[in-house]
Order: sequence, then C-alpha cells, then structure tokens
Amino acid sequence: MQNLVLYCRAGYEKDCAAEIQWRAEELYIGGFVKAKPNDAYVVFQTFEADGADKLMEQIKLNDLVFARQMFAAGELLKDLPESDRVTPIVESLADVEKAGELRVETPDTNEAKELSTFCRKLTVPLRQGLKKSGSLLNKEHPKRPIIHVCFVAPGQAYCGYSLSYNTSPHFMGIPRLKFPSDAPSRSTLKLDEAFSHFLTKEEQEIRAKSGMNAVDLGACPGGWTYQLVRRGMFVSAVDNGPMNEKLMETGQIKHYREDGFKFEPPRKNVYWLVCDMVEKPSRVAELIEDWAVRGWFKEAIFNLKLPMKSRFKEVRQILAKMDEMLREYGVEDFKVQCKHLYHDRDEVTVHLWLNPSKEF
Ligand SMILES: C[S@@+](CC[C@H](N)C(=O)[O-])C[C@H]1O[C@@H](n2cnc3c(N)ncnc32)[C@H](O)[C@@H]1O
Repeated sequence: MQNLVLYCRAGYEKDCAAEIQWRAEELYIGGFVKAKPNDAYVVFQTFEADGADKLMEQIKLNDLVFARQMFAAGELLKDLPESDRVTPIVESLADVEKAGELRVETPDTNEAKELSTFCRKLTVPLRQGLKKSGSLLNKEHPKRPIIHVCFVAPGQAYCGYSLSYNTSPHFMGIPRLKFPSDAPSRSTLKLDEAFSHFLTKEEQEIRAKSGMNAVDLGACPGGWTYQLVRRGMFVSAVDNGPMNEKLMETGQIKHYREDGFKFEPPRKNVYWLVCDMVEKPSRVAELIEDWAVRGWFKEAIFNLKLPMKSRFKEVRQILAKMDEMLREYGVEDFKVQCKHLYHDRDEVTVHLWLNPSKEF
C-alpha cells in the first residue's frame, strides 16, 4: 500500500509530518506528506507501491513522538454510496488476509467525531462483509493485523491495516482513562497515561510498585503525587505551593517547600523521579541529566513544554543533546522514550530508564 496514515492531536499535523518525513528519509523511502491544519491526521504517500507496508515494518510506533497510531492504507475512497458502503470498502481491502480485529475510526476532531455514531453502525455489516471475503477472521485474534477504516469526512475513508506488534492497543490511538474523583488535579491523568504507555502491566507490577521511593518536582497540588501514592510509593513532593490536604493525610508524602532546581534528595534511594515543572524544556532536560549523572534515580518521567513552532525539531534537538550529555558523563546504559500523549497538550512526556539491562 502507498499511504501511511498517522493520527495525531489536532494542531500537530506539521510536527507529525516533519517527523515521518525525517524517518522515511532515513530509510530511503521516498514520498510526500499530505496534511491539513487541525485535521488530526497526516498521510505520507510513498512513491513505491508498497512503501507504507515497508515503513510500518521498519518504524516502531513507540519511537514516533507525535503519532498516536499509524496504518498502511490504499487510496482515499471517495463518494462511498449511501446505499452500500460495505462493498467498496471490502473490495479495497482484498489484499488483507485474516485480520484479527476491525476498527472503524475517525480522526480526533469535533467534526469527524460527529461521524462516530455512523461508524459504530457501519461496523456490524462491515465486519460481516470482511469475514465473508476472508479479510477478517471469524473470531478476534490479538496476533493478527488490525483493519482500520478511517472516515475523514462523510463518504470518504482510508482503509488499511496495522500490525499487531506495532500498533496502539486503543481505538483511535486514544486510551480511555477514568479521572479519579479524589485526585487533586486533572493532570493526574498525564502521569497515569505515561505509566501505562511506557510500561506494560507486568513491568508496572515490578517497576512501579508499593514501597518504592519517588520524588515529584513541581508537585502541587498533587495530581502526579496522587498516582505515585496510589501505587503505594513514598513521595518527596517538591514545590513552593500548597499540596492537597486530603492527599497529605495518606502519610506517604513529605512536602519540601523548595526550588525543584536546587533540591537534593536527602537519601539516595529514589527509584522514580517525576517532574512537571512549567519551565524551559532545555532547562528541565539539563536538570534530569544532572540527576541521571549523579545516579539519583532509576527511572524518570518528565514533561517538556513545547514551543509554538518547529516543535518536532525542538524535541529532536533536546533528546539528541540528552543522549550526548549522558554518554559524555559516562552514563552509557539507558533507554529513552518520548511521546505526545493523549492527555498532553503543549508538551511531550519523556521516560528515561537508567541501566535497563541490569536486573531489577
Ligand atoms: C503544572 S503544575 C504541576 C501539577 C502537578 N503535576 C499536578 O499534577 O498536580 C507546575 C508546578 O510546578 C511548580 N514549579 C514551577 N517552578 C518550580 C520550581 N523551580 N521549583 C519547584 N516547583 C516549581 C509550580 O509551583 C506548579 O505547582
């Protein structure tokens, strides 16, 4: 297939486009981007007939910062007849064999979401049609490709597939997280999403568990601390502002009214460092690098606030510098992941894991 469709947050199409173009260039897969502001998706059309299939095999979705989901698709189906939309969609997917799941989606915009009731209704007859043609298995299968039909406008859809081992597990690439009614702030969902995005459930059980020590820089009113406490951790919450009183009553938190850039953990037994200070991204990155070089944590999750323009370039530069700095100071064994999470707005979230190859 020739089109790689990528979902992103509305307003971030340029960044998503710049990123996929850069990654495709690295792989010598030629093509061009089709993207419109606020459409919440980007299409990278390759020159080769199977360019999108190749990209999907060679680029990990988790390595892309701005894409929530990606799938290879054929040409945009236009003017799908109201009387029978199923037949042309099934025909366009003739090359897909024995997929394990069907998702009829839209990009994440208010206009496109108006189509979601229609998408739900179409799913049943489409599923039947795809089963009959052999494109979809009779029973869902987690190890087979996923068919995506993405309605970008009424009667217009991109149809294709993603690979089970390189896809978002979520419909439209969006995790549905419940806001806990007793959490001090909505930003609690950012850290909750970060934990479940960067660590599998099994990894969380081992590496984000009860009894661990954590530091939260820029903690007030306590949305992120809430997530650490919920997981049974003991938290040093650093911020000049007031912490949520009810959260403090858990007895798992020590509040330091200090500058997060000067704070030094009194005991060097910190596993998690999290940081949500609103500051220049390069300054936050340098702070985390400094902690990493001193060996003051094992894993960190932090936000980088994004500029208004050239956001992909900025993120790329900061991550490249972080890589360079850590190595220069002898930190060789580490893993970095960065994602524009669903609950992030004008920021991206970074996960830095030191010594991942050392057994826990
Ligand atoms: C976006 S809020 C954090 C929200 C928090 N993560 C939550 O979920 O409730 C940013 C916080 O960083 C704090 N902050 C900014 N600069 C700081 C600094 N130099 N030292 C400590 N805290 C700082 C602010 O006081 C503010 O409370």
